[in-house]
Amino acid sequence: MTDRASVYEVSPRDGLQNERATVPLRSKLRLIEALVRAGLARVEITSFVSPKWIPQLADADDVAQHAKPPEGVTFSALCPNARGLERARAAGLREVAVFVSASETHNRKNVNKSVADTLAAFEEVVGPALAAGLRVRGYVSTVWGCPYEGEVDPKRALVIARKLADMGCYQVSLGDTIGVGTPLQTQRILRMMLGELSADRIALHMHDTRGTALANVLVGLEMGVRDFDASVGGLGGCPYAPGAAGNLATEDLVYMLHGMGVHTGIDLERLVEAGRVAESVVGRSLPGKVHQAGVRSLKA
Ligand code: HMG
Ligand code: MG
Repeated sequence: MTDRASVYEVSPRDGLQNERATVPLRSKLRLIEALVRAGLARVEITSFVSPKWIPQLADADDVAQHAKPPEGVTFSALCPNARGLERARAAGLREVAVFVSASETHNRKNVNKSVADTLAAFEEVVGPALAAGLRVRGYVSTVWGCPYEGEVDPKRALVIARKLADMGCYQVSLGDTIGVGTPLQTQRILRMMLGELSADRIALHMHDTRGTALANVLVGLEMGVRDFDASVGGLGGCPYAPGAAGNLATEDLVYMLHGMGVHTGIDLERLVEAGRVAESVVGRSLPGKVHQAGVRSLKA
């Protein structure tokens, strides 16, 4: 087992898109700064989607214009169409992410199109983004299950992941959107994926709705995956996926990785501080385990 993993932080996007109240711009910037201070080198800071669909992120242009990444840090944002790419480029982003679901019903609820039409529409995002020198990441949602259709045939995700990689996405993040995945299922899905894509082109995006996210990450680690999405404090969800409460908490992920001797470049104490910032920004307590336990208690 190599001893490095990369954490892709999604709290300012996946976290805040699901909050009832819209967080003010300055609070979003405070959260992003705290995440960078903790050593997170990849942060998804917002979404360039329709403000009618996701009003919580309607200030995406301002967020991306004000949050300038220091050297070595990459800020990214979701981008469903050409309009989104135009906005991302105007704000100076160097990376964007496209997203599509493995299940038809979730995809329609999320972006109002069939899976085939969504993939076709990416032609106007991925190619032009790459031509403009941006990096593009791809997401496949509902790989472990769909809130509308139940179980999803993993072959659907496989075909989509292959297409995203062929389009030029440097990495495909596989989403357990509603946090239903279990370890043997993860093993089956990854075994299939790893027949198509090398491990460094796969990331895991686990929601922790049922407490199985870390167990699934462990399976991924053992199978060679080294890229994991997480959200500080466990903030997050998907407004078009009922029950998609809470992404895997970044502190829980980093605590486990460090304990296994897998380096991340993240300072866990500062990460816990970033979790406190997240909590104050949303004005409610967050579910992450390490967030709740704190790190100092280890030394007591
Ligand atoms: P639509 O209504 O089908 O498309 O939305 P439209 O082209 O008719 O546009 C509707 C309105 O939005 C128009 O405005 C457009 O101009 C505007 P109007 O003419 O009515 O005033 N619009 C835009 N405005 C700003 N930026 C844009 C943009 N595009 C259109 N880029 C659309 C289609 C895709 C836009 C819409 O469905 C949408 O924005 N959906 C976003 C859904 C979303 O963000 N979901 C959450 C993220 S996915 C997720 O959380 C899962 C993930 O975490 C992984 C996992 O957990 O598995 C990634
Ligand atoms: Mg998500």
